[in-house]
Amino acid sequence: MRLIPLTNADQVCHWAARYIAERINNFAPTAERPFILGLPTGSTPLGTYQELIRLYQAGEISFRHVVTFNMDEYIGLSATHPHSYHYFMHEHFFQHIDILPEQIYIPNGNAEDMAAECEQYEAAIRHFGGVHLFMGGVGSNGHIAFNEPMTPFDSRTQVTSLTDITRQDNSRFFDNDLSLVPNEAITVGLGTLLDAEEVMLLVTGEHKAHALQAAVEGEVNPVWPISCLQLHKRSMIVCDQSATARL
Ligand code: GLP
Repeated sequence: MRLIPLTNADQVCHWAARYIAERINNFAPTAERPFILGLPTGSTPLGTYQELIRLYQAGEISFRHVVTFNMDEYIGLSATHPHSYHYFMHEHFFQHIDILPEQIYIPNGNAEDMAAECEQYEAAIRHFGGVHLFMGGVGSNGHIAFNEPMTPFDSRTQVTSLTDITRQDNSRFFDNDLSLVPNEAITVGLGTLLDAEEVMLLVTGEHKAHALQAAVEGEVNPVWPISCLQLHKRSMIVCDQSATARL
């Protein structure tokens, strides 16, 4: 696992965007095997999306040969609900770049048969031959996507219950009203994430310092899902100085 320590969150976002652009630009896509990019939501990657949009507008990158797989979605929010991850991704990224709806995969949190939806999501990733680069964030309790503490490292796409800490952390997106935060989500598994050729997590802010410490100095232990990165040969954490407070 590589640790890329930078000074502030802006630098983390710019570094990540340039890294993604470089990977896409150096990739020779075919019709069967476009560049497969895994994407997160949350406040941390917002600056990365902005920088990728800027690079696109400057003609330095195109998403014509990229297929994206989002990490997760709340259960029970419609795709047009302003707090759904569908809405978030279109609002902050997809509508600003040259990507078509058929190149975008986001788990459906409203599927009638959730078990089938989970299976189809995994099958779609397999169909393209796997993810090249999975970008992610981390929760203050070390969760990745919605893989809460004690999720097995070999878990696949599944429906999961959110912990109180995660619902509390995410309530800021729901007008600080905890009762509006869904209790369940559909999420790629840690096994799905670890299958990617490369995993890049962005960790910024002092409230993530404990999670970063667990990832870098701790044992590989499901108590801290982020520690699973130690098992991956091409994983990296890009962090700012505040996140390193406990290292
Ligand atoms: C949510 C998402 C995660 C994300 C986390 C941290 O729980 N499901 O994928 O990493 O929030 O969000 P933020 O970047 O806003 O701290």
